[in-house]
Amino acid sequence: MTRRIIIFDTTLRDGEQSPGVALNAQEKLEIARQLARLGVDVIEAGFPITSPGDFEAVKLVSKKVKGSTIAALARTNAEDIDAAWDAIRCAESPRIHTFIASSPIHMKHKLGMEPAEVLERAVWAVKRARSYVSDVEFSCEDASRSEPEFMYRLLQAVIEAGATTINVPDTVGYATPEEHGEMIAGIVKNVPNIDRAVISVHCHNDLGLAVANSLAAIMNGAGQVEVAVNGIGERAGNASLEEIVMALYTRPHFYEASTRINYSEIYRTSRMVSSLTGMPVQPNKAIVGKNAFSHESGIHQDGVLKNRSTYEIMNPQLIGIFKDNIVLGKLSGRHAFRDRLQQLGYDLTEEEIEKGFKRFKILADRKGEITTEDLEALITQEIRTIPEKYNLDYLHFFSGNRVVPTATVGLTVGEDTFEEASVGDGPVDAAFRAIDKITNLGVVMNEYSLKATTAGKDALGEVTIKAECDGRNYIGRGVSTDVVEASVKAYIDVSNKVAYEKERGK
Ligand code: KIV
Ligand code: ZN
Repeated sequence: MTRRIIIFDTTLRDGEQSPGVALNAQEKLEIARQLARLGVDVIEAGFPITSPGDFEAVKLVSKKVKGSTIAALARTNAEDIDAAWDAIRCAESPRIHTFIASSPIHMKHKLGMEPAEVLERAVWAVKRARSYVSDVEFSCEDASRSEPEFMYRLLQAVIEAGATTINVPDTVGYATPEEHGEMIAGIVKNVPNIDRAVISVHCHNDLGLAVANSLAAIMNGAGQVEVAVNGIGERAGNASLEEIVMALYTRPHFYEASTRINYSEIYRTSRMVSSLTGMPVQPNKAIVGKNAFSHESGIHQDGVLKNRSTYEIMNPQLIGIFKDNIVLGKLSGRHAFRDRLQQLGYDLTEEEIEKGFKRFKILADRKGEITTEDLEALITQEIRTIPEKYNLDYLHFFSGNRVVPTATVGLTVGEDTFEEASVGDGPVDAAFRAIDKITNLGVVMNEYSLKATTAGKDALGEVTIKAECDGRNYIGRGVSTDVVEASVKAYIDVSNKVAYEKERGK
């Protein structure tokens, strides 16, 4: 008989722990709405105690997103659990997820606690969480390196205390599929009250085994898998949502398990997450990579033309990939623009749509046909919760192989315009230096990437900048047919985010 597997998505929590990723509240909300459309059962929206920004983001998602359970992470102390509850209390279906490490390595070196203390704390935390909400998940961090007998006792105790889901993470991505499957089978056999809780797994990908380990766990009785879109997360990431879901779909007789995912939303979700986190998807990534359904060799192309099933085990259209990529042209009106954005999964305010439409018209005049990629790049520019203190008024630059690159930038701040000029290693560097002279924020750039939205010569340049200021990470994006202008827009985007946080911190 087919079992329904609960999809617990941690893109907004563990995924956001990917190096350099920083999502603001509005960006988290946009992704959470898309995850709900995708049909994930649980959205782990964040770890509220870690920062006021994350607390606000989890609260916003809890208020606005319907149709999925909203979970918040908490360690086993009162402050964490109370903050988690405060952030999710207005959700339609809230869940507190509390965790403590159970492996000898973590208990000794990280927690400095004896196993008995860990067990006592875990039970206390689950009881406190249950005093707020009936849906409580408990995770024993580093479960795959824990001593089985201690873990069984711990799980039995937290279920007794009221945990409704028990999660056994492979925190460091150390397990093999055989071991992970055996661990779940061991829990089913040795935890006497296991029938009162759902068994969950949370696999990291350090050895590239996160998906295989999760599937082995499902085969052995796990009822929930914790996953992230595009497999993002700490270090090498988490098990990829799309790979697990499509493995279950493509091999129903083998796994005898299904999900409630709307497959046609998979590709859109992947692109949105990639765009808002600034984490590109590798071209050969299973399911959602650019090459996942491309056939290069003549023999393969011939086979696919004769019958797709010769070399394709999945239909790309099922996951929302359509060949006809031209979406709008310069004669398209507001209505078509709004409709198309809705189809792409964006749920924007009238003001954002209006601003986006103006940018779209300028672009369509320059470029003619606007593709899905162009439109997505353009629209992620409009997702803003913060006031835009600095706006680009004008940009001039002068560059070549025998001149010193110079740039002059004019920024408006309210009613005033400020102008500065600078030289630099290139026109982009010169323009950034000129902006710094105006803003004086102390932004430190960590990463700069430029990609073309489509293959043609008229493609849009999409710049993503990852930067740091006062210990916080920021991501800025800019799009233009001119790559220097796109870079300047991305840098202004970062500067606006930094300025906003500085103002709030006063
Ligand atoms: O990897 C891990 O162990 C985690 C837990 C907090 C669930 O992310
Ligand atoms: Zn994790």
